Amino acid sequence: MIPKNTVEKIIDAAHVEEVLGEFITLKKRGANLLGLCPFHGEKSPSFTVSPVKGIYKCFGCGKSGNSVNFIMEHLQLSYPDALRWLAKKYSIEIVEREITPEEREQQTERESMLIVMQYAQRYFTETMFDTDEGRSIGLSYFKERDLRDDIIAKFQLGYSLEERNAFTVTAVKNSYQPKYLAKTGMSIVSNRHVEGTEITQADLFDRYAGRVMFPIHDDGGRVVAFGGRTLSNDKKTAKYINSPETDIYNKSKILYGLWMGKKAIQNADKCFLVEGYMDVIAMHQAGIENVVASSGTSLTVEQIKSIHRFTKNIVVLYDGDEAGQKASNRAIPLLLEEGMNVKLLMFPDNDDPDSFSRKVTIQEFKDYLENNTEDFLKFKAKKLSEESKNDPIKRAGVIKDLVDSISIIPDNIIRSIYIKECANIMEIEESILQMEVNKIRRKTATKASNTTANETQQLTPENVEEELFLDTKPEKELFNFDAEEERLLVLMIKYGNLLITTQAEDEVNVEHELEITLGEFIIFELWRDEIAYENPLYKTVLDEYIEQLKDLRLPDVKHFLQSPDPLISSFAVNYVIDKHEVSPKWINFGVIVPKEIDLAKKDAEKTLFSFKSRKLNAYINSIRESLKTCSYDESIEILEEIKRLEILKIRINLLLGREVIK
Ligand code: CTP
Ligand code: MN
Repeated sequence: MIPKNTVEKIIDAAHVEEVLGEFITLKKRGANLLGLCPFHGEKSPSFTVSPVKGIYKCFGCGKSGNSVNFIMEHLQLSYPDALRWLAKKYSIEIVEREITPEEREQQTERESMLIVMQYAQRYFTETMFDTDEGRSIGLSYFKERDLRDDIIAKFQLGYSLEERNAFTVTAVKNSYQPKYLAKTGMSIVSNRHVEGTEITQADLFDRYAGRVMFPIHDDGGRVVAFGGRTLSNDKKTAKYINSPETDIYNKSKILYGLWMGKKAIQNADKCFLVEGYMDVIAMHQAGIENVVASSGTSLTVEQIKSIHRFTKNIVVLYDGDEAGQKASNRAIPLLLEEGMNVKLLMFPDNDDPDSFSRKVTIQEFKDYLENNTEDFLKFKAKKLSEESKNDPIKRAGVIKDLVDSISIIPDNIIRSIYIKECANIMEIEESILQMEVNKIRRKTATKASNTTANETQQLTPENVEEELFLDTKPEKELFNFDAEEERLLVLMIKYGNLLITTQAEDEVNVEHELEITLGEFIIFELWRDEIAYENPLYKTVLDEYIEQLKDLRLPDVKHFLQSPDPLISSFAVNYVIDKHEVSPKWINFGVIVPKEIDLAKKDAEKTLFSFKSRKLNAYINSIRESLKTCSYDESIEILEEIKRLEILKIRINLLLGREVIK
């Protein structure tokens, strides 16, 4: 458990622009900041962050919340873990008691797996430094590859002993459950294990025995996987063994180096893309930290999107060898399609960034990167142009190749710039190139619209539900009070602290003018007629409001925006910022122009009136229904009740200054 005052301290410290800025590049736009939404794929920014209010909201997908919500959602953490993550970031000490073995059992699967990975990382690092085998084999390997101590520490490199089950045995001894060693892929389940029975240590052996270890972090800095490199030159042994895909390791999403490099990527507004673990590490050693590798898989769209959150400028650094060429041929169309500016850098001979960096000085390496980066499309146009100089047929094919690449680019302006420049390089008419590009774009556009048309015809569980919902709508409407419940909450949150005067009766039924806050007024009106909220979300927010009043606090907008309950904070976020209200005109806390004061009170009265009379109508309706099935005696009682309610209805209408409209 995290003590309440620590929670408050963390929430206070976790400035939204700082926390989100670790994961997205945000640009100033008026009082707000704007960036690409990390929750849905988008190419133009609609993700808005308000430092003043401490919240974010995406106008593309609707996701919203405060710093804690963001960390929960983005790093898939529970509420307490999100707080722990933030506490670490802001060096806030959390004094928690040790968890007992029973509690450890109760932790969710994912958390247990993450704990195993954290343990494994420490174990491999300690093994490398504290055992003879670790030092003489693991550490000396990294030293031979010229890695400095600070870099070895930064990347948390380690070593796994040659003994077939050294890690598994030690982990189990330290009470990590065999089941999670298997689930994380750190240990392999042997065929000795009988299907259906509980996994024990005897069923397991190490996945990485005798390898140097590269931990792979997610972009919150948690170890989610490992790559293990063999030290043998035997061609039959796989050079790298990587963690399998697990609940915590989604290979297509994780980029090696992103955690260590994202600040630098933001600052440089540029990201180098390399092939291997060692390449990332070597570049850091040369002082270049804005670098990631797709590690073991070919680059995916999801990985590109997570780079795009920080920058749209990417420099692809693939080996000159055939595999490297192939990899870049696959990656580049995807990068162009995502709207990235793609540059290319080749290394001489068969060097990769790591081997090249060790042949030259740090300065020479940096200069090489600086001077040999070429725009991908221009590079391609030049190369193709040279290759097909004297061969008209080949030339036609080459133009088509180039046109294919250009037509992928989503941005109109950038596309036409490329058309111009490539036409120049290839020495052809710009208009011809333009026409060819348009042809392809039209073709793919019709293809795309055909597939979406097909998709919408398919029935999914969601749209079946939607149709069912439509069927039941008329009845729902009569008994659905969402609109009023919501409106009153919005008024309470936005204008609840406004003082209004109202008429109230004292014990001897004499009317007095009374000054109360609008929030109290609404709560009092609901309470007086025993009206309860039905929508569970709205009820949660209302209860919080009442809690605050009970504690004699004036609940302001900020309180709701920063609520630790994500339901409450996202409700507040959704109603505090409206789309047309995004830019500078935030209504400052507590400062309300006179006109709005009048409106807020009127609005509250009107909504309360509609709420109460509709509630009453629904109630009267429902008991009229019961007349059909009840006994004679019961019916007398029911008719009495209806009469009473009809009178109440008139009273409500009178009190709220309205005539009954039949
Ligand atoms: N890789 C892999 N499995 C393999 C080979 C390669 O997952 N069997 C991945 C690793 O992420 C590796 C990257 O592909 O880092 C590039 O492979 P390669 O160029 O062969 O390795 P290097 O990273 O250059 O490693 P080293 O310099 O130690 O040879
Ligand atoms: Mn290499």
